[in-house]
Amino acid sequence: MKQTKKPTTTPTTKSAKKSKAKSIAKSGSDTAMKSSAGSSSGTILIKSGAIHTASDSFRADLLVEHGKIVQIAAKIDTNFCHNAKVINAAGLDVFPGGIDVHTHFELPFMGAVSPDDFSSGTVAAACGGTTTIVDFVIPSRGQRITEAAKMWHNKADGKCAVDYGFHIALVEFNDQVAKDIPKVIADGVTSFKCFLAYKNALMVDDAQLLEILYHARENGALVSVHAENGDMLTFLMKHLLESGNTAPRFHSEAHPAIAEAEATHRAIVLASMAAAPLYIVHMSCNEALEEVKIARSRGQMVLAETCPQYLLLDDELYNQPGFEGAKWVMSPPLRHFSNQDPLWEGLRDGFVQTVATDHCSFNYATQKKMGKEKFTLIPNGIPGVGDRMNLLYTYGVCRGRFSPNQFAAITATNPARIFGMYPQKGTIAVGSDADLVFYDPKKKGKITDKNTLHNVDYSAYNNFELDGLPVLVLSRGVVVSKDQKFTGDTAHGRFLKRQPFTPSDWGFPEFEGF
Ligand code: URP
Ligand code: ZN
Ligand code: ZN
Repeated sequence: MKQTKKPTTTPTTKSAKKSKAKSIAKSGSDTAMKSSAGSSSGTILIKSGAIHTASDSFRADLLVEHGKIVQIAAKIDTNFCHNAKVINAAGLDVFPGGIDVHTHFELPFMGAVSPDDFSSGTVAAACGGTTTIVDFVIPSRGQRITEAAKMWHNKADGKCAVDYGFHIALVEFNDQVAKDIPKVIADGVTSFKCFLAYKNALMVDDAQLLEILYHARENGALVSVHAENGDMLTFLMKHLLESGNTAPRFHSEAHPAIAEAEATHRAIVLASMAAAPLYIVHMSCNEALEEVKIARSRGQMVLAETCPQYLLLDDELYNQPGFEGAKWVMSPPLRHFSNQDPLWEGLRDGFVQTVATDHCSFNYATQKKMGKEKFTLIPNGIPGVGDRMNLLYTYGVCRGRFSPNQFAAITATNPARIFGMYPQKGTIAVGSDADLVFYDPKKKGKITDKNTLHNVDYSAYNNFELDGLPVLVLSRGVVVSKDQKFTGDTAHGRFLKRQPFTPSDWGFPEFEGF
């Protein structure tokens, strides 16, 4: 894996003016940032933080000007920083702002619209240390993807608290889609998602997937797949319902790991034939991971994402009394807890590159209840965009499952590199956006249904203890959250035009046509 650039220690070229630096923080972990919340960033001097990138950990000062990191050095003299605001980061862990490459905000899905829109969703992201999200444009069949992208811009532009990009789901393939692929790529949408599940709605067949893989490759885009065999799921759902098995827990039986493993295998084989890179979204089980490992061992360009829910929650949650299990109805479903260790190990060993949330919230009392009589009518999805960083900091870094550098890689650097945002996003380096999250390892918290950051009536992680909290979050140098309270502006976020996928960044050969 390519290493992040080493920080420069070149002194600032600015003339040494008499310091007018204003402290916006007291000391140590009690980082009560006295910042002008949400204002434009100006010059900020961040003192004495423990900086963690994907490749290094070091104590340093950071100088931020106009939203960019302009200097990293062991010590930057406040005398050199005219009028800088000062953040005392002593005792804090400083990471690149999180990048969640899998969200669904304001998504019309299964007869409901997910209630976290681009404002509430990105506010939750900001409060939880995520400074970039990539959401999925999902066109209707027959709708041009360029039109669908405009719809998503209408939902998002001017309404985001942090920077954002789009993937586009390709729910069919035809000549018009082929013509529109280069257009959307030119507009900065350089990745597509294909659903191998949701038959008769979003699912594409193998012939369509092959064409999409080929056309994406030819244009430098990355294809991701929702890998579950839609025919198997449809068969199981039908037979379960016919036998009177209507409760939420049967959603899990209708989505077995074998259906995920089969679709993962098939997508890998098709990508191999198309000589195209492949990214598996929301991988939930060891059987699918094994398919990825086999492909990687023969050098195939297959990358994988998992989600906090598959690392930390298990299918026992479906066995709760009444309808409660509906809160965790998502696809793929939660698995037996024995799948969790392999997924953590897959992250640690580099077979799984990213953890995204697949945030797709639905209110329990109203929307999830639509499936009271039939589990197949429960809108699929759970909230999580505000929880991802905190859960991975506690259950990844603090529990010793991976290092702070791996945390930076998994939550920010790898997503930025895979999805064409690096090095503007995803690292702490001179020239990068000053997207930063400051963790106080001494602070403790708990996620509850009541304090959830999301615009829904429950939390998927109710009662999860947190060791360490994000006390400050900067997006392009602007303080967007302090002590998990939003201090930003919901018009601050900018659309990110992303670069094409570059296989060589991942040690794979450049594309070769057939
Ligand atoms: O259950 C899920 N995952 N809902 C969101 C749509 C998807 O499949 O990603
Ligand atoms: Zn999916
Ligand atoms: Zn999704």
